[in-house]
Amino acid sequence: MTKYKDVYGKYSLGSGAILSDENKVWDRIDEPEIMAAYNTSIRRDLVKSGISLDDLSHWYVMDIGTGRQALTFLDIGADKVDHFDISPENVARLSEYRANTAIEDRLTTTCCDVVKTDLGSDKYDFIYLNGIVQHFSNVGAGIENCIKALKKGGQLWLYFYRSGTFDNFVAYMVRDLIHSSNVAKDDKILKEHFIASILSYSDDATKNYATSMYIDGAFTRFAQLFTLSTYIDFIAVRGLKIVSSSGLDPLGKDVDHYFSRAATVITLQKTDDDIDFSALTNTLSPENDVNQLDKSLYNQPEILATIDLYTQLKSLLNTNNVPASLTTFVAVRLFDFLASKTRSADYNPMDRHTDMQSLMINIIKLIEGEYANT
Ligand SMILES: C[S@@+](CC[C@H](N)C(=O)[O-])C[C@H]1O[C@@H](n2cnc3c(N)ncnc32)[C@H](O)[C@@H]1O
Repeated sequence: MTKYKDVYGKYSLGSGAILSDENKVWDRIDEPEIMAAYNTSIRRDLVKSGISLDDLSHWYVMDIGTGRQALTFLDIGADKVDHFDISPENVARLSEYRANTAIEDRLTTTCCDVVKTDLGSDKYDFIYLNGIVQHFSNVGAGIENCIKALKKGGQLWLYFYRSGTFDNFVAYMVRDLIHSSNVAKDDKILKEHFIASILSYSDDATKNYATSMYIDGAFTRFAQLFTLSTYIDFIAVRGLKIVSSSGLDPLGKDVDHYFSRAATVITLQKTDDDIDFSALTNTLSPENDVNQLDKSLYNQPEILATIDLYTQLKSLLNTNNVPASLTTFVAVRLFDFLASKTRSADYNPMDRHTDMQSLMINIIKLIEGEYANT
């Protein structure tokens, strides 16, 4: 496989919308407004999981991501935090901050791939995986590695993207349009899309939150999707019990483009540390990543019609006389439909497919009108 440098740190800081001014996501690591938002969100996460801040003061925490979550855990009283990230930029920023503050004894930061690195065993009281696991090269292997590192009785915060939801359907489509795959293998066009999204999504051609989200959605190397039931079955046989959850409904439905949340959280407690993972099937492997454009998943005519239109649009964009730049414009536009129009306050989710179809019909007409017979 071609060497592909993932996008985090330089081109995206992820897409967690917890900031009142979301564009601040690009500011310095300890920007007070951002840290205050992380503080509120992590405290809420802990309360939701039934964890008290008093417990936290004895805890050894593991965190993956931008580094802001790791700083927040220390700020709200965790005893020690080990931070990991595959992004050299994220680790360098946290490392520089760490060297200039009095937290050196309580924080480590390491650049590595946590799917392939030995994280130790029976070590952590709390592992915080917020927006992380779908980006692993092998989701099941990465989660197993984290479970091994968790103490018996310890808790793991697991946030994951859910197959069968509208947002992930559109993001999958955009990834397929750009890469002809759900795996981003070639970063030659990354810079072009980075700049195109900045030009399209900001008033003043500066880095903005929508760009961070676009690159996170379209260019992160892996964005693997599995159904909720696949995740739940996977963790149950590995000796973990669910202690709290958020956004799991509608339970029992693998496809729901109107009411199902795109990302879901469960908090798990390790109840058994004597399980031989090698004897278990890894259902969260790359081969089981669910192709959201596979028509056999659906019996809803509107989803099937959207897939047909998308297929027509993709084939038109790949016609010889249509400039490649139009694929970039269309990808940026489709993502904006998702991130902006469908998320506006008064938007009716029931209009998602009809609106997306009329957008694609108009794009097809426009391109065919100019390029059909040239
Ligand atoms: C969408 S961002 C989530 C950011 C997080 N919610 C935060 O605010 O800090 C995903 C993060 O996971 C990291 N990541 C993805 N795959 C990884 C891996 N295999 N090992 C270590 N870090 C990884 C990325 O570099 C990125 O920082």
